[in-house]
Amino acid sequence: MTRTARFTLHPSFTVGEVNPRLFGSFVEHLGRCVYTGIHEPGHPTADEAGLRGDVLELIRELGPTAIRYPGGNFVSGYRWEDGVGPVEDRPRRLDLAWRTTESNRFGLREFIGFVRKAGPEAEPMMAVNLGTRGVAEAVELQEYANHPGGTALSDRRVEHGDKDPFGIRLWCLGNEMDGTWQTGHKTPEEYARVAAETARAMRRIDPDVELVACGSSSSSMDTFAEWEATVLKETYDLVDLVSMHAYYWETDGDRDSFLASAVGMESFIENVVATCDHVGARLKSKKKINISFDEWNVWYLDRPDPDDFEEWQEAPRLLEDVYSVTDAVVFGSLLIALLRHADRVAVACLAQLVNVIAPIMTEPGGPAWRQTTFFPFAQASKHGRGQVLDVRVDSPTYETAKYGEADLLHATAVRGEDGSVTVFAVNRGRTEALPLEVDLHGLGLTGIAEHSVLADADPEARNTRDAPGRVTPHPAAGTTLTGSTLTATLEPMSWNMIRLV
Ligand code: AHR
Repeated sequence: MTRTARFTLHPSFTVGEVNPRLFGSFVEHLGRCVYTGIHEPGHPTADEAGLRGDVLELIRELGPTAIRYPGGNFVSGYRWEDGVGPVEDRPRRLDLAWRTTESNRFGLREFIGFVRKAGPEAEPMMAVNLGTRGVAEAVELQEYANHPGGTALSDRRVEHGDKDPFGIRLWCLGNEMDGTWQTGHKTPEEYARVAAETARAMRRIDPDVELVACGSSSSSMDTFAEWEATVLKETYDLVDLVSMHAYYWETDGDRDSFLASAVGMESFIENVVATCDHVGARLKSKKKINISFDEWNVWYLDRPDPDDFEEWQEAPRLLEDVYSVTDAVVFGSLLIALLRHADRVAVACLAQLVNVIAPIMTEPGGPAWRQTTFFPFAQASKHGRGQVLDVRVDSPTYETAKYGEADLLHATAVRGEDGSVTVFAVNRGRTEALPLEVDLHGLGLTGIAEHSVLADADPEARNTRDAPGRVTPHPAAGTTLTGSTLTATLEPMSWNMIRLV
């Protein structure tokens, strides 16, 4: 029997307030994320704008907040003007990022319409093209989108049917500009310069826009940390956030390391925070740069890449990973890592929202369904709001090839405004249940509202079109609150949400 894992919660020991934007997501013109994902005119559930009603319903249940658009790699060759104005006049273009054909039937106007229907907290997070384009096109887009009227570009928006400005607050200055795969890839110095110039110009239109500078595409990039330092040295006073991107997958059957992926994610966050603060210290600045973890997920990057696909198709099936229970447990642990760093992670975007490495899948003309990863996200977005409490676990450990000794228990807890507390916990152990004891002294909690578990006797179980309800969370047995001690048993390889009131 594995020894009991323990931690203590106290209302005075907090990490920070969860920014709702931590539950963001991402819609890229990639594969079927847009076309036949969120947008499919003629689908039996489509509304007058061609938005799929069944998908919107699932998105509202998922609860994403900031929705990043239109890329990703796609944005680095994108002309935003192609996606506004009468749909019949819009040009078809080659998309160099994914070597597909972009019809531009869906663009900025349709995206804003989509966000307005995607739930009460949904807001647009717009990326500008700093690959093939630059300062001029970025401010032109901002003027078209946000200026009330009386100028050529803002009046064009009004002519196109949108009298009211879109009010986009959050902007990404390009995407993954450190990657050689990026159209218009740049050295850190080149990017720092164009990011600073773009930020300066955008702030002349509106000093209050919130700007994200590109950080590294992953912690394994040769330029990692030096890139962030160089970019921030030039942009520190001009931007609010620096981006982080990370994807995790199981390699060579090493499931133990895969289950500990959040160890890597947490150290990545801590390293980027340290780099930001180092630059701040060098500049003698009181300002703190926060993190926009605007691409994160489980993604099997070693599975067929776009080179295997016939080129220049419209909306082909790309990156349609089908997630297992194991993937969902790792995914939940990544969410826990983000919450544990809520003091500095101000934005995070699950990449992506529909069909492309996504929690929601669709069939053209057919149904939409929830992947296994849907559940941890929906639960955390709904119940992970408030103050993150400081959780320091005393846990049995296990050995991993990639991260050394790792705790079997990975956990966080969030205290809502009403004093209720939600514990999110993952048991990384593959075969053994993990006994858990939490000391809740001083929190005044009297009952357990729910202990919901995602786990399965078959770690490979997945939801598919034919079996969309194969994997769903189930209630746990035997969880008790006696005095101020919570006692639970976490099933092997499980994601858990325990709500206390
Ligand atoms: O999310 C898929 C791709 O991953 C994005 O387009 C890119 O930014 C990243 O490399």
